[in-house]
Amino acid sequence: MSIAPSRIGVLTGGGDCPGLNAVIRSVVKEAVYHDIAVVGIEDGFLGLIEDRTVTLRADDVSNILTRGGTILGSSNKANPLRHAVARADDGSWIYEDRTEHCMAVMRKHGIEAMVVIGGDGTMTCAEPFARRGINCIGVPKTIDNDLWGSELTFGFSTAVETATEAIDRVHSTAASHHRVMVVEVMGRNAGWIALHAGVASGADIILIPEIPFSLEEIAHVVALRSRRGKRFSIVVVSEGAKPEGGKQIVDRVIENSPDPIRLGGVGKWLAGQIEDATGIESRYVVLGHVQRGGTPCAADRVLATQFGDHAMGLLREGRRNRLVVMQQGRLTDVDLTEAAGKQRLVPQDHPLIAAARSVYTSFGDDAGA
Ligand code: F6P
Repeated sequence: MSIAPSRIGVLTGGGDCPGLNAVIRSVVKEAVYHDIAVVGIEDGFLGLIEDRTVTLRADDVSNILTRGGTILGSSNKANPLRHAVARADDGSWIYEDRTEHCMAVMRKHGIEAMVVIGGDGTMTCAEPFARRGINCIGVPKTIDNDLWGSELTFGFSTAVETATEAIDRVHSTAASHHRVMVVEVMGRNAGWIALHAGVASGADIILIPEIPFSLEEIAHVVALRSRRGKRFSIVVVSEGAKPEGGKQIVDRVIENSPDPIRLGGVGKWLAGQIEDATGIESRYVVLGHVQRGGTPCAADRVLATQFGDHAMGLLREGRRNRLVVMQQGRLTDVDLTEAAGKQRLVPQDHPLIAAARSVYTSFGDDAGA
């Protein structure tokens, strides 16, 4: 008797990133090849709560490898354990556990196992189903590259390419106008995007959450460059970067979200501080969701295809509740729950930080002074 399931569900949860469609394509094509039927669940766990599904055949995933976003849609608010419902009388929120309802939806569609493509929050949502006997195989995605247990996630390389191209464009206008240009990039509490895009674009100052910065040091670097005839400076700042002894700048706190803190605003604040301190005109650009959109780069298409293939291999071998990861350049897997609640931050002694310092890039601290 085959240990492989005959019918699986697939969903994409959390914030989107380039490469999600490449994983869906890989999963569906391989499943169809092995006579496994695939049910696509729309908008992450929300589709399970609301019973919104589509049958996915090989034809349905043809021509999606290069497409950004996700053909299934996504949601970063839906959590079956804590589903927010507005009360009819006063509109206030109450939270309901919809886990059993979702189990019934899966039974109705004959779903025996799930491929769950998402981040930390999505994997946490999958756990109650894994405990109830649904084999959940996690495929990690994030442009932030901060998944604990995996040295690379798909979406990251594309985000770095996009940010690098944008910073290159900002570079020439900064030089023409003798300005400081501050470019704010995403990454949440991890500075991977800022570090890689900053090094790739030859930024003068890179600010990451892992290294609190000093405004005096930043002003010193900018003023020194100016005195040496470099009348412009490029600062790449991660949205989660903060001054020494200070706090991250929060744009909004979102009600009913498993991920309630929306970071943003440090670029604007920093440009003002630099202009006040140096007298040099300083402007800012926030790259925002531009980094999450568009076609995945070749490296992400390859990685996403490999992740999908590894997930299907695990399902067909009957391995249960695993998370696909990349370690030391090799695809492998860990327990689904192992990465929950942990982040992979940039170590202060990361070789790329040392390499950047050796080409006189400042991290806004006094280590490179
Ligand atoms: O985790 C990916 C990410 O793009 C972060 O870099 C960013 O902080 C966050 O998601 C933004 O989320 P949202 O699109 O929900 O505002």
